[in-house]
Amino acid sequence: MLTEAAKEAIRSLIPLSMRKRVAIWMHRQSWLSAERRSWWSLELIRDFAERDVNAYHKFLWTHHLGYAAPYEVSTRFGAENMRPSRQTFFAELRRCMEAHGLPATRIRSILEVGCSLGYQLRYLETDLFPEAAVLEGIDIDRQAVQAGQHYLAASGSRISLQCGDIQQLDRLLGQRTYDLIVCTGVLMYLRQSEAADMVRGMLSRSRVMVAMAGLAHPVRDNQALDVSEARQRDHTFVHNFDAMVKSGGGSVLARRWDGARQVEGQTIYFVFAAPHESARSGREKA
Ligand SMILES: C[S@@+](CC[C@H](N)C(=O)[O-])C[C@H]1O[C@@H](n2cnc3c(N)ncnc32)[C@H](O)[C@@H]1O
Repeated sequence: MLTEAAKEAIRSLIPLSMRKRVAIWMHRQSWLSAERRSWWSLELIRDFAERDVNAYHKFLWTHHLGYAAPYEVSTRFGAENMRPSRQTFFAELRRCMEAHGLPATRIRSILEVGCSLGYQLRYLETDLFPEAAVLEGIDIDRQAVQAGQHYLAASGSRISLQCGDIQQLDRLLGQRTYDLIVCTGVLMYLRQSEAADMVRGMLSRSRVMVAMAGLAHPVRDNQALDVSEARQRDHTFVHNFDAMVKSGGGSVLARRWDGARQVEGQTIYFVFAAPHESARSGREKA
């Protein structure tokens, strides 16, 4: 491993544009272990996060680098591969629907924002909402989208995945709306104002519910945060979804915050929100 001084020297001597190309090249080198490839991708461009954190995360996800690399068909599809925090999330989603008198048959169309390979959509299709006719996902990671779409087509699924930036929903989806929009583990890669715009955009496209999971603040309930907090170790953000829902044209139907408790390394902060009728003006049914 290189010393901090050596890493700094590489970063200051080689322009970022070239280091980005090297990071992409390294990712393709099968003679390096997966861990080494991931380490190099992150170390080569660490300063990028300080310059423009949103662009840094988009770069890593777009090229399936660093933390994106473990997203593979063999380790993500199937109930046995569902992370415990997500099992809890979907159990809470089901509970929330029951508590509000919403039968599963009410959900005929679903959009997942930041769907990766589509493994959560597949679970929704087979287990939670088998009557849903429209199941669509958007993700910026082309490698994951292509691998997932291939697997889903071979499985006889109705799911359709699209590669694109979720900050371009209007361009990608036009005026389409969905009964349910799911967005888990995604908004943490966007700064507060962009995350809030996303919440507003999702509320404007949903007819029944927007279901979100994000990073839990370890000490204060997220709903008490005045501003989003940056998590230094991976340049992600701890947001207050509750406030974003209220300012974005929705009401919180149910929520859960488990503080510092971790389930296999994941914290629990869920918000299930209903859109106000006015948030959706002008949109069409998918
Ligand atoms: C931590 S993974 C979560 C995947 C899945 N939602 C889950 O909960 O298991 C984050 C996902 O968000 C996607 N993502 C991040 N920023 C994005 C953006 N700007 N546009 C589209 N997808 C994005 C990544 O490519 C990745 O698949």
